[in-house]
Amino acid sequence: MNLRSRLVRYDELVPCLNAFIDARSPGSDRKENFTIIGPGVAENPDQHVHITLPHGFNIGGARQPPGCLNSQHSHLTNEVFLVHSGTWAFRSGVDASDGEIVLREGDVISLPTGVFRGFENVGDDVGYLYAILGRDDPGRVLWAPQVFDLAEKHGLVLLEDGSLVDTTLGQKVPAGKRPMPRTTAEQVAAHRVISSGELEGIVIRAGNYTWRRDTALSGFPGVEEAALLGPASAAEGLPAGSLPWPHEFVLRALRLQLDAHVPAHRRAEEEVVFVLRGALGVEVDGERIELRRGDTFTTPIGSARSFRNAGTEPCVAFFTRRGDRPAKPDFSA
Ligand SMILES: [Fe+2]
Repeated sequence: MNLRSRLVRYDELVPCLNAFIDARSPGSDRKENFTIIGPGVAENPDQHVHITLPHGFNIGGARQPPGCLNSQHSHLTNEVFLVHSGTWAFRSGVDASDGEIVLREGDVISLPTGVFRGFENVGDDVGYLYAILGRDDPGRVLWAPQVFDLAEKHGLVLLEDGSLVDTTLGQKVPAGKRPMPRTTAEQVAAHRVISSGELEGIVIRAGNYTWRRDTALSGFPGVEEAALLGPASAAEGLPAGSLPWPHEFVLRALRLQLDAHVPAHRRAEEEVVFVLRGALGVEVDGERIELRRGDTFTTPIGSARSFRNAGTEPCVAFFTRRGDRPAKPDFSA
């Protein structure tokens, strides 16, 4: 099996600089957008999708320099961010004034549907967010009305079919295509107000993970597992996550001390691994790869996979699996 085709290294990510309608708006014009697994919600048909296999969710990323903004918008599915690096202010509300929360490395936020959100790198260094968007087809982004005005001023037109025309690159609106209607007051009114206090309720702080040693994966020396998103999963020996509501995917964290090892087991569903800290050795059906900070890898369904700490510090990795209650990992393999 070619594991390399299932691996996206952090330093090989292919950015899109004009993925969205706000790509020319001052303050938002230096953001890099990545579609790592699945098409996501990018509005630029030329954006590179690293892995096209359907997973039941999409994995993406945003990399932004200090002061760079992602404009207010909402989605038709859950949107989850894990902070890989940087300091980020997430703001709620159509004009970003309902609430604000600042997140740092290892923090997780799960944004529900029906809420306008935007985010800004408020730190001193370039930052990267790892993003999970629900479903194979997450639909289109709904932008706050003022985003359309700014885009028009700077030469970008969003079309009714969801694609983007960049007039600064000499593109023209194709004959017979119409611009996306500006988001209406009625659509805005259908959104909820979320205060700063309520934002804290949809966040897991890196220091507040509940690390366990009694789960299906953690019964080995030096291995701990934390349930982050999704309901209790008896098959995996995990209680409800810190954010326990169903997302149609689950998110777990695994921490491996030096020399720790999770032996070979099989999984019945898609499983995407993302390394936040350290190095993770992964063996799949006898083939080996090593994941480093920021790398993303999707394990083939049914394959025998084992994980070990391949670095010189504790390794922290995140696992996203399809569905709210993944099956029991099968260690009989
Ligand atoms: Fe988004």
